[in-house]
Amino acid sequence: MDPQLRSKLTRRPLAVAKAAIDELIDDDHGLTTLVFAYLVSAAWWLVFGTLVGLYLSLKFVWPELDGVSWLSFGRLRPIHTNTVFWGWSSHGMVGLAYYVVPRTCRRRLYSYRLGWVALGLMSASVLAGDLCLAAGISNGAQEYRELVWPVMLMFASGLALTLYNFYRTVVGRTTREIYISNWYVLGALIWTLTLITISYLPFYQRGFGETVIQGYYMHQGVGMWFTPMVLGLTYYFLPKFLNKPIYSYSLGVLAFWTQMFFYTMIGSHHFLYSPLPWWLQTVAILFSIGMIVPVVAGTANFLLTMRGSGHALRSSYAVPFLLVGVVYYFVGSMQGSFEALRSLNLLWHFSSYTVGHSHITMYGFVSFLIWGGAYGLLPRLSGREAPHLSIGIHFWLAFIGLMIYGVSLSVGGTLQGLSWKHGEPFQNSVVLMAPYWLWRAVGGTLMFGSHLLFGFNMWHMLPGRTPALPEPLTQEPARAI
Ligand code: HEM
Ligand code: HEM
Repeated sequence: MDPQLRSKLTRRPLAVAKAAIDELIDDDHGLTTLVFAYLVSAAWWLVFGTLVGLYLSLKFVWPELDGVSWLSFGRLRPIHTNTVFWGWSSHGMVGLAYYVVPRTCRRRLYSYRLGWVALGLMSASVLAGDLCLAAGISNGAQEYRELVWPVMLMFASGLALTLYNFYRTVVGRTTREIYISNWYVLGALIWTLTLITISYLPFYQRGFGETVIQGYYMHQGVGMWFTPMVLGLTYYFLPKFLNKPIYSYSLGVLAFWTQMFFYTMIGSHHFLYSPLPWWLQTVAILFSIGMIVPVVAGTANFLLTMRGSGHALRSSYAVPFLLVGVVYYFVGSMQGSFEALRSLNLLWHFSSYTVGHSHITMYGFVSFLIWGGAYGLLPRLSGREAPHLSIGIHFWLAFIGLMIYGVSLSVGGTLQGLSWKHGEPFQNSVVLMAPYWLWRAVGGTLMFGSHLLFGFNMWHMLPGRTPALPEPLTQEPARAI
């Protein structure tokens, strides 16, 4: 090898140097402890929930892996989905919101005690829910609402307390405007509480009534809880980490109202070609296409905010997570709008393609944005950073793992659907899927590895130990963003 090239290569660092966090904004230690408690809980549920997900993916490769009833696919699958929904994503988002809401209102949180009680209720419901599901106690085949009502009531009570706490904080704000993040956060909490009430009341849930509510529930869960909540947080974190205002406040408001208008009507796209009224299915398809408006508005707003910030992107370890989250928001949502078309839904509905879409959105979009917020905010609160290399490895394992996961299931799922459409024996599609399921397990292993690193990084960022930030620390005055 050319000696000049060799010396260049040997001098090349393993990772691009990232700037250290140089500010400490923990002006309210009680709040810092509360935010950390939510995030530590979220990290634990992420590791546990995705260990279950990984085990499930191995069952597609070795179906005879075990013969234990509580390890059966039917029990573990809802444990995985409910843990990552209510444990990981919900705890992560609510925890970050506990910082964002008072900060953007420029006042203290209304009540710390309510914040702790809400955390207790939410965590207890995830634990009780998992134990019930493992014991075979469930609400039946109701995807994402498998938790029996007393358990879900506990979770909803946690959200209700959070809503009250945030509402009182926003009411007592010292700013004139309600910052856009709070529109999304309060909206998401109100919609989700409405959603849980509607979908757990039994009176009208007979026959098709139940099917309509199930479609409504499934999509409102992802569309009116995770999506607005995490978008609201990004409206705070992105400008904060880039140190510049959001590109357009009005575009954010447009995305908010169109999201509310279109997203609430698309639930029936989960049951196309079912005996539900044809017009109801058509409305769901039209509104799924209409979703392009808020998605393009939101994505454009974030990307235009990032424009010209190449330096921040290279030197920050939090912003790349946000960039990936925003791009996957666009990719996953566009994928969803197309999947809602009758011709394509016929191909993809029962196939693994939909599982790929779920992970591209819930993982690529929601989880990456939570990580971006956590990595940018927590060191600023505790004064302790995680090793940059380990954050970098987390990023790449999660990113490459998800690429493998998403591509293998999108390609495999399409071939699977085509095989069914051509009327081939079902067995053919199983044989065809074998390599794609193996690749999913490979991607899942990388993703799970990244979650262990996230746990390790969380431990490094915990407060209460010697501050590791360089002196002098900039004590930032309280301001909206
Ligand atoms: C424009 C926005 C979106 C549209 C139009 C859309 C559309 C769809 C469609 C058509 C399906 C398949 C339904 C079926 O055949 O059963 C689906 C499934 C799913 N989507 Fe989306 N999607 C969108 C965005 C999102 C986002 C942002 C998330 C997550 C935050 C998400 C999470 C899911 C999940 C988890 C499923 C699987 C549901 C199941 O278990 O059956 N989607 N989506
Ligand atoms: C190590 C990472 C992960 C692995 C290996 C994994 C694996 C799996 C497996 C094997 C299934 C069952 C698929 C089926 O029924 O055919 C599944 C379902 C699901 N997982 Fe994961 N998962 C992981 C992470 C996550 C995360 C972090 C989230 C959300 C934040 C998530 C959300 C979901 C959802 C929504 C479903 C239902 C999919 C559907 O019905 O369309 N997963 N996962």
